Amino acid sequence: MQLTITRTETLKPKPDENQLGFGTLFTDHMLNVDYTPDRGWHDPRIEPYAPISMDPATMFLHYGQGVFEGLKAYHTDSGGIQLFRPGENIKRMNRSCRRMCMPELDPHFALESLKALIAVEKDWVPKAPGTSLYVRPTMIATDPFLGVRASHTYRYFIILSPVGAYYPEGFNPVKILVTKDYVRAVRGGVGEAKTPGNYAASLLAGQKAHDEGYTQVLWLDGVEQKYLEEVGAMNIFFVIDGEIVTPELNGSILPGITRKSVIELARKWGDPVSERKISIDELMAANEQGKLQEAFGAGTAAVISPVGEIKYGERMISIAEGKVGPVARKYYDAITDIQYGKAEDPMGWIEPVT
Ligand code: PLP
Ligand code: COI
Repeated sequence: MQLTITRTETLKPKPDENQLGFGTLFTDHMLNVDYTPDRGWHDPRIEPYAPISMDPATMFLHYGQGVFEGLKAYHTDSGGIQLFRPGENIKRMNRSCRRMCMPELDPHFALESLKALIAVEKDWVPKAPGTSLYVRPTMIATDPFLGVRASHTYRYFIILSPVGAYYPEGFNPVKILVTKDYVRAVRGGVGEAKTPGNYAASLLAGQKAHDEGYTQVLWLDGVEQKYLEEVGAMNIFFVIDGEIVTPELNGSILPGITRKSVIELARKWGDPVSERKISIDELMAANEQGKLQEAFGAGTAAVISPVGEIKYGERMISIAEGKVGPVARKYYDAITDIQYGKAEDPMGWIEPVT
């Protein structure tokens, strides 16, 4: 497939890199690719960032047949631009596509077109500490049709957004609320796919947590509401009695790439780590016995986000005295040092763009 590039005539002003939030600003260009059953994926083009005009009957708008991804491009001290494990995002997007009855992308094309877009937008990759260019590949169903079935046509696009910290707290402990009133995903559902409906399903519980002064929801499983699953839009980790533990992937948990990276580093370093079921009762008991040493979320946007307080019903527990624990600190430093090219990349996780 021949990628064409049409450059915009008017560049947007670049933002103040020290004032970047998350996901509010977008760059000058985007990638667009179309799919039809007869032509497959075709007409890939980098063109000026612009609204997408759609028939009001477009299936994505009605039935949410869509998938997306999230990864980041980092500026290194030596002036290069690099991606962290982009092949994992592409694999996960194709898995999400299979679950959502959508056409997969050729992994080689997906990586090369993503790199080409970032190369066009290289001046948008911020250099200030802790900043990066967030990459949002997205695929949507485009048939104008109101019957419920998989669409025949699709649009794949990528937009880019220069970002700072995801949480206003930055790398500081957040307070989280365990909810029994709502679940994020159910067994056999689409929880392990990165599809918009999962995020829509999480909003009301998230809003209620915010109203009570909490940053995120700690989700319990959708069957027994007993086992821990994820925290907000991140995977959850605990340090219990010296062991790093995270819920095992069960079909309703999103298989995070940061999660996978923490596990792989722990195995490499010989830190005890296990993926298993963790019940909320076990967590409460571990806390009472003084064995719950740390809790942290793991995801691309925040990398590692320490948890300082958990509320479950009437019980409120404080973790690591509400401070950043040594394990969260160690993994945050190790992963961000690799991402920003400040450390060797012994795992082969880095993909250079320029
Ligand atoms: N869980 C959910 C629901 C997410 O949306 C994300 C973010 O992508 C994650 C976990 C963390 O995944 P990753 O580390 O690949 O960003
Ligand atoms: C993450 O990167 O951790 C996310 O969950 C991204 C979010 C904006 C959906």
